[in-house]
Amino acid sequence: MDGPSEAFGSPYRLLSTAVTPRPIGWISTTSQAGVDNLAPYSFFNVVAVDPPVVMFAPVGSQELKDTPRNVRETEQFVVNTVTRELVEQMNATSATLPAGESEFDQVGIERAASTVVEPPRVAAAQVAMECELYDWIEVGGSVLILGEVVHVHVEESVLTDGKIDINNLDTVGRLTGSQYASTAERISFERPT
Ligand SMILES: Cc1cc2nc3c(=O)[nH]c(=O)nc-3n(C[C@H](O)[C@H](O)[C@H](O)COP(=O)(O)O)c2cc1C
Repeated sequence: MDGPSEAFGSPYRLLSTAVTPRPIGWISTTSQAGVDNLAPYSFFNVVAVDPPVVMFAPVGSQELKDTPRNVRETEQFVVNTVTRELVEQMNATSATLPAGESEFDQVGIERAASTVVEPPRVAAAQVAMECELYDWIEVGGSVLILGEVVHVHVEESVLTDGKIDINNLDTVGRLTGSQYASTAERISFERPT
């Protein structure tokens, strides 16, 4: 077996194609100077439920991206859930903008105030999780950012009998490059006991 640096394209290509579909954390932050930032991160997942902790990982060995820089400065972020109707806007926020410019304004995304943390959430996101920095772990040129979920917003339309219902949430996953996976086709299997 060849190591990932020699085989099957670049390590990034190999890993990001084999680990699919990846959920997308659409992360809003606010810089110390007060500029609201919004960017997608598909190296994203749940880490723990008690305490409730999620993670995302900015990749790259050069200068820190705006999102991790803002998290380091303010120790707060919001994870907005990406559903089918938001995917084009989400993609537009992945453009590299100067730190002084906000993707919210550039792409024309409406903000909603958060409850506990400073950074705004995406008003149209059906689920948004307000997070406070739990840990920051450097892994080579990447950073593993862990956030404790301190407040959650769920749109009324997603609820069934007061509980969040996956049948009402059309989440989108990232494949590789420009390809995404819709979750519109659902399959169901009972778990063995
Ligand atoms: C769907 C999607 C997922 C992405 N996931 C990641 C990721 O997990 N890690 C990363 O470093 N960049 C990722 N990117 C690229 C960043 O979004 C991009 O570098 C962006 O400009 C970073 O913005 P920021 O500097 O405002 O944080 C992704 C881009 C897209 C479109």
